[in-house]
Amino acid sequence: MDGAEWKQAAAEADLAEGRPLELPVEDRHVLLVRVGNRIHACAAECSHYKGPLAEGLLTGHTVTCPWHNARFDVRDGRLASPPALNDLSSYEVKVESGKVWVRSRGGVTIEMPGGSDGRTFLIVGGGAAGNAAAETLRREGYSGRIVLITAEPVGPYDRTMLSKDYLAGEAPAKWLPLRGEKFYNRLKIELAMGSSVVAVDPRRRSLSLADGSTLQGDRILLATGGVALRPQIPGIDLPGCFTLRSLADADALIAGLPQSGAVAVLGAGFIALEAASSLRRRGLEVHVVAPEQLPLEKVFGPEIGRRLKRLHEQAGVVFHLGCTVYGVQGNGRARDVLLSDGTHLEVGAVVIGVGVRPAVEYLAGSGLAETGAVPVDARQATSAEGIFAAGDIALAKDPERGPPRRIEHWAEAERQGRRAARAMLGKSPLPREAPFFWTRQHGQSLKYVGHAPGWDRVVFRGDPEGEAFLAGYYSGGLLRAAAAVGRERELIRLGELLEAGGSVSAGELVDPGFDLVGSP
Ligand SMILES: Cc1cc2nc3c(=O)[nH]c(=O)nc-3n(C[C@H](O)[C@H](O)[C@H](O)COP(=O)(O)OP(=O)(O)OC[C@H]3O[C@@H](n4cnc5c(N)ncnc54)[C@H](O)[C@@H]3O)c2cc1C
Ligand code: FES
Repeated sequence: MDGAEWKQAAAEADLAEGRPLELPVEDRHVLLVRVGNRIHACAAECSHYKGPLAEGLLTGHTVTCPWHNARFDVRDGRLASPPALNDLSSYEVKVESGKVWVRSRGGVTIEMPGGSDGRTFLIVGGGAAGNAAAETLRREGYSGRIVLITAEPVGPYDRTMLSKDYLAGEAPAKWLPLRGEKFYNRLKIELAMGSSVVAVDPRRRSLSLADGSTLQGDRILLATGGVALRPQIPGIDLPGCFTLRSLADADALIAGLPQSGAVAVLGAGFIALEAASSLRRRGLEVHVVAPEQLPLEKVFGPEIGRRLKRLHEQAGVVFHLGCTVYGVQGNGRARDVLLSDGTHLEVGAVVIGVGVRPAVEYLAGSGLAETGAVPVDARQATSAEGIFAAGDIALAKDPERGPPRRIEHWAEAERQGRRAARAMLGKSPLPREAPFFWTRQHGQSLKYVGHAPGWDRVVFRGDPEGEAFLAGYYSGGLLRAAAAVGRERELIRLGELLEAGGSVSAGELVDPGFDLVGSP
């Protein structure tokens, strides 16, 4: 669409309050939204993975994407919450004789701020949190030096894809980077790739790198994520046994997969199950071995555990639940996986998906990670002046006065990175959002908002065995978290309620006649 020209988009009468409408305007899809007596227009596709924003939820001026809950301000398309990184393109709007006209406001880019800030900010870890923090520093007007130090030989990329389409062989490597080299050059974000920090001196605010050099910063953000666990099983270090955390791990796994035959997946958590799904898509025989009775039962409860098990079994995955692995054997390469129930699996590879621990070895002796994670306050500040932490390593105070919590979700890591960036600049904290994650297995997306490590009751709207459902997790009579397949608007609404400290009764949640989306 030519930026300078007005284009007719809709009849004003077609726009109902609070109901976003997607319309084609020449070669673009535009989202028109009426809020009060104003009409706003922005791109209809989410800037993350093109989720249909018209199917999301509009609350005030904020539209939430139905796919992975990114948020945008419909007045100017500005990104309000990850996992999207870019703003939406937005449009000027005029109404004449009952017709709505739109005119593009032009492209959306993050600009390199002017100014001559002499400070240096160091970010350790080029993952979700580190990248979001670097971008946010520029968005917030910081013009000083930013060095993003990352142990990986590549720049920040979409880690969530590794166990999904990338492992399935359906997403090429070129889809993974979050940004191109040009982006970092333009914003003067120095990427120190293949550089590991081996020690931090909090008093001097300095970092020691593996190559013997040191870097001193005015502010430091620690965002080093997690390390995949390897259980202590004889033979687990044989070639052919793989963990899955980094792109290098994924590439090694893909290169080590057999052409045909069986693969054992140890564990039945998110990464293990996503890997099982992707390996089936490659046509391999997949055996999932885990001690629990149902996959992810602790997180979601038995109903969703059964659903997931059935979904995988229908796709041909074989479960060995209630079982542990007591040995992996092979002549120079993993071949036999020995299970506690006496089964011997003959496999071409073993995928280890038994969880992660925070990557904090380099903090030994610094006093920043005494408990194996880095305690932070609501601003992501650690106990050391000028040092912040975000993402999988950060142990944050629970806003509801529960025990401190460490959350391993992609969008949450990005949000924490953004929050840390603002705090590094001395700006006020962003409002807290309910944690959110998604998982995709055999083409089905399961989403979760909130945080309920211990719940005493789970209730359902819709059949948990059916096409779509919403689950509410309660403890002490209060809603703590919700999960859903489909029913995205309701899930988003419950997330908003949780953020506002609100609740909805279990009776209301299960009652299909109770309008959750419209409820105050
Ligand atoms: C395969 C996979 C799939 C996932 N899928 C989902 C999903 O679908 N949805 C979801 O919500 N979450 C998902 N997650 C979880 C999500 O990716 C993490 O919560 C998120 O990446 C955490 O971000 P982070 O910035 O804390 O750490 P990371 O993204 O892990 O980044 C940390 C970076 O720090 C670097 N680093 C570590 N130590 C050092 C050091 N000493 N010096 C320098 N650099 C260092 C690492 O190499 C890495 O690049 C998935 C995770 C994995 C592994
Ligand atoms: S596609 Fe919109 S948040 Fe992912």
